[in-house]
Amino acid sequence: MSDFKQRLHDWLAKADKAASRFPERRETFNTSSDTIEVKRLYTAEDVQGDYLEKLGFPGEYPYTRGVQPTMYRSRFWTMRQYSGFGSAEETNLRFKYLLENGQTGLSTAFDLPTQIGYDSDDMMAKGEVGKVGVAISSLKDMETLLDGIALDKVSTSMTINAPASVLLAMYIAVAEKQGVSSDQVSGTIQNDILKEYVARGTYIYPPEASMRLITDIFGYCAEHVPNWNTISISGYHIREAGSTAVQEVAFTLSNAIAYVEAAVKAGLDVDRFAPRLSFFFNAHNNFLEEVAKFRAARRIWSRIMKERFGAKDPKSWQLRFHTQTGGSTLTAQQPDNNIVRVTMQALAAVLGGTQSLHTNSKDEALALPTEESARIALRTQQIIAYESGVADTVDPLAGSFYIESLTDEIEAQALEYIAKIDEMGGAVKAIEQGYMQREIQNAAYQAQMAIEDGSEVVVGVNKFRLENEPKPELQKINPELERIQNERLAELRKGRDNELVDAKLAALKQAAQGTDNLMPFIVDAVKAYATLGEICNVMRDVFGEYQPAQW
Ligand code: 3HC
Repeated sequence: MSDFKQRLHDWLAKADKAASRFPERRETFNTSSDTIEVKRLYTAEDVQGDYLEKLGFPGEYPYTRGVQPTMYRSRFWTMRQYSGFGSAEETNLRFKYLLENGQTGLSTAFDLPTQIGYDSDDMMAKGEVGKVGVAISSLKDMETLLDGIALDKVSTSMTINAPASVLLAMYIAVAEKQGVSSDQVSGTIQNDILKEYVARGTYIYPPEASMRLITDIFGYCAEHVPNWNTISISGYHIREAGSTAVQEVAFTLSNAIAYVEAAVKAGLDVDRFAPRLSFFFNAHNNFLEEVAKFRAARRIWSRIMKERFGAKDPKSWQLRFHTQTGGSTLTAQQPDNNIVRVTMQALAAVLGGTQSLHTNSKDEALALPTEESARIALRTQQIIAYESGVADTVDPLAGSFYIESLTDEIEAQALEYIAKIDEMGGAVKAIEQGYMQREIQNAAYQAQMAIEDGSEVVVGVNKFRLENEPKPELQKINPELERIQNERLAELRKGRDNELVDAKLAALKQAAQGTDNLMPFIVDAVKAYATLGEICNVMRDVFGEYQPAQW
């Protein structure tokens, strides 16, 4: 046995002896991906392989250490707080408040009716108008939402999936009214329908029609909106549904493979659209596993794009991502504790090389954030950026025996899942068979059992509880909002050129029945002030609605 191995062996025996007085807290330690056991100690022995092949330099293939050569030394990640509630006016004020407080990008939360393609005055919208996000039913609402915000100066993310084409069309139309052409705007639409089938649920159309709309957006933006990130392939909600870190990476990248395959099948050259694919991950509680997760995801994706899809443009190999700290880790109990959780999760995202970051507010387990809690959340990022020093060198945790070993392990296990999904015929088939959903449910069940039996501690919830906690001040939604929205929509419908609207909707219907790219028809309808619901209903008539498989 080599001297090192012998020394390690002797040390382990000595450590066991030393632990006799204070036995280790658990038989075995695991990360959130319970198939990864955490050893007592990692050494050089745990880090195999060639530096250049496995890590490389930041801004170079395989991008393990980051997508930019200088990362945060040149530019901090975008501080992009997900926000939106009530009316377009209220959200416009919150956007401006956050920008005045140093936020560097916008991120729009829409209410459920908007996310599922219903106008605020639709029967299906009852009770949900403005509740979990801002109510947007028409170009008029979008004009109000973005009033006084220069769209050539700020990048805007829109968390919108099934009706992404319509909200993107509205955004382009508002920019044009500001004299900003579509090739000058920058931002992102989430536009990731597969994870909606798997985990989130705001889908409308069946997979085939949804994939067509998504690839139509890829093609249209490559032509007309070159600085727009056309999709934000999301692992966030997969994790929020209870997946492990490994599953979050594996299922997200499997979905990403399906999108690239669909776009290539639709005749798009991979390097024409791939540079504008983006990703969205969760920053969860297991700090070091989260850092390793982001590094593994970057390496896996760059190899998939270069080797599997033959992409030639280095920008096609780069996994650029936004992170949101884990909403599901927030507790309703002792909400101030959440500030600590969010700080650690945000730090993991930064040490993992995120391009954009949302930090949750301490009260979001109870309601949408108040102005004060949203400010604390933003300040959390600013303190990490300006005071912690971690942004002053690139990928500072690289070389850690544990981080590198964990990066390798997450990569290996994620690749196993991806291979299995490939064998099933890809992500769409795996989703139709309920495979991803079942895997996530099993993981969620295990995690919940661990909390119930106390082996997983949630401070303030199953340990260190406080009786009779004070009730915090919560954000309120204007109860009059639904009525106000409905009156506005009635006025809009009365005041617009309804013949023009009907003509544009008929043209969209005809195009939907054919094979043309639908974006130009949707843009025309939006500019004529056809509403979101009217446009989505035309496509409902043609495509039908998705009925989840009973698996
Ligand atoms: N050196 C050189 N250039 C650099 C640099 C550096 N160090 N750092 C940044 N840059 C450049 C970039 O290359 C980019 O230029 P380009 O556009 O010409 O390439 C520019 O500076 C801006 O940088 P990024 O693109 O890195 O940052 P952005 O913030 O603009 O984009 C993104 C980040 C991940 C690519 C983008 O897709 C994004 O912003 N995503 C956000 C998605 C989001 O906010 N989602 C919220 C979802 S909320 C949700 O769903 C949860 C709810 O359901 C509960």
